[in-house]
Amino acid sequence: MEIKVDGSPKIAIIGTGYVGLSTALILAKQGCGVYCTDVDRQKVDSLEKGISPVYEPGFEELLQDMKQAGRLHPTTDIQGAIAASSISFICVGTPSKEDSSIDLSYIVNAANMIGKALANKDGYHLVVVKSTVVPTTTKKLVLPELEKASGKKAGKDFGVSMNPEFLREGSALQDAQEPDRIVIGEMDEGAGAVLAKLYEQYDCPVLHTDLDTAEMIKYTSNSFLATKISFANEIGNICEGFGIDVYEVMKGVGLDSRISPQFLRAGAGWGGSCFPKDVMALVAAARENGTDPILLSKVLEQNQVQPLRLIDLATKALGDLAGKRIAVLGLAFKPDTDDVRHTRALPLIRGLLDKGVMVSAYDPKASENFKLLLDEEERSIIIFTNTALDALDGAEACIIQTEWQEFRDFSPKDLVSAMARPVVVDGRRTLDPVRFINGGVKYLGIGWKND
Ligand code: UDX
Ligand code: UDX
Repeated sequence: MEIKVDGSPKIAIIGTGYVGLSTALILAKQGCGVYCTDVDRQKVDSLEKGISPVYEPGFEELLQDMKQAGRLHPTTDIQGAIAASSISFICVGTPSKEDSSIDLSYIVNAANMIGKALANKDGYHLVVVKSTVVPTTTKKLVLPELEKASGKKAGKDFGVSMNPEFLREGSALQDAQEPDRIVIGEMDEGAGAVLAKLYEQYDCPVLHTDLDTAEMIKYTSNSFLATKISFANEIGNICEGFGIDVYEVMKGVGLDSRISPQFLRAGAGWGGSCFPKDVMALVAAARENGTDPILLSKVLEQNQVQPLRLIDLATKALGDLAGKRIAVLGLAFKPDTDDVRHTRALPLIRGLLDKGVMVSAYDPKASENFKLLLDEEERSIIIFTNTALDALDGAEACIIQTEWQEFRDFSPKDLVSAMARPVVVDGRRTLDPVRFINGGVKYLGIGWKND
């Protein structure tokens, strides 16, 4: 599996999920030779065929280009990939355990595999932890495991760095190419210097920290952003009671440069692979360390109940929901992805089923992944449709859970002609309320002046 690059380093990616693949594609694009390794043979086979295992704008085109350029090589041979490269990125998953603390077993496993490969490898090798891990993991778990499995000394024979990613799904390639900042957690200057060189083309602040601080920066960023959204959601709920539009309020609030307009969109709550898992992991890790994180616990609680407000709004419009047909539009945790991890559509649809609602559901990309979250009975009673109009056909209300562009493109007439009753409960301020109200639609939404 020879990769040919001129001068640029060769990289081994350990775990080619969303984070690993984004990293691989960007590094290959900037000229590195990249081995994409994964224990999942199906994923590797798919990459080999030039098919991205996840839907993300631009992934598949870049994957094919980089394969064609000979700079990207998918493989299950982790040892071979490490032996042939000078930098390894650990990008394996860090899921939640049942008690919501972080499961670090894949991380330890990856460190063990890298250590074994380093045992037989000459020359300096940098090991970079990119997966999100709770503070002290790199220093206390990864580094000792690497030393144990390799029989070599960190700082002398190999270096260790912690380099968090801040990519958003749906805009991962753009985020990766225009970062706000790069954080390099380093065990020593030598390790940090290798990464700084790798990222030298980026025109943004580069912050060098110790390993623990880099880990904490990632958790703090995600916890802050999740808190900011939950705060907007709470204000939205309060606004509803006063008959005030929260989007107008946040426009005024976000113009304060200390606050910024970003992540103030009130809605059905936050999902995804990072915010829920990371806030839960930080809360659990804090408790383990003797600190009770009062605010973050409440943020999690707020996010549990927020999607259920959509059911309250539907009830407000239709009365008792039992036996009524409601279309749920959008199953992905956000638009432009087929990812359904912690999607707010799941508690929403389960809540509707509990009330005896007949649910029709549509998503442009995520229906198949969403079905995997359901039990057999739930799968059999929900009607999944191939188009939004089919889901709306004959429905007495529709709830928009993900603000896909194709829903933004609806006209009031589309809803009036397709639905039994043109009632919209907008969980993401997808539609312009005034335009739809004027077009004969009954519009209710999070943080809107619902009467
Ligand atoms: C995940 C987390 O969500 C994120 O917080 C963390 O920073 C990195 O991992 P993501 O890439 O979306 O991000 O995870 P996932 O799609 O689960 O991908 C992980 C990949 O690692 C999978 O393809 C899995 O097969 C692979 N893996 C897992 C290995 O190659 N080896 C292992 O031992 C375990
Ligand atoms: C997030 C972080 O933004 C990124 O830096 C980190 O690396 C991974 O986690 P991602 O989960 O891909 O990225 O999506 P993001 O755009 O942050 O949205 C997360 C959730 O918050 C979505 O469910 C989205 O609908 C919701 N959201 C976001 C809001 O409800 N309101 C907002 O204003 C912004």
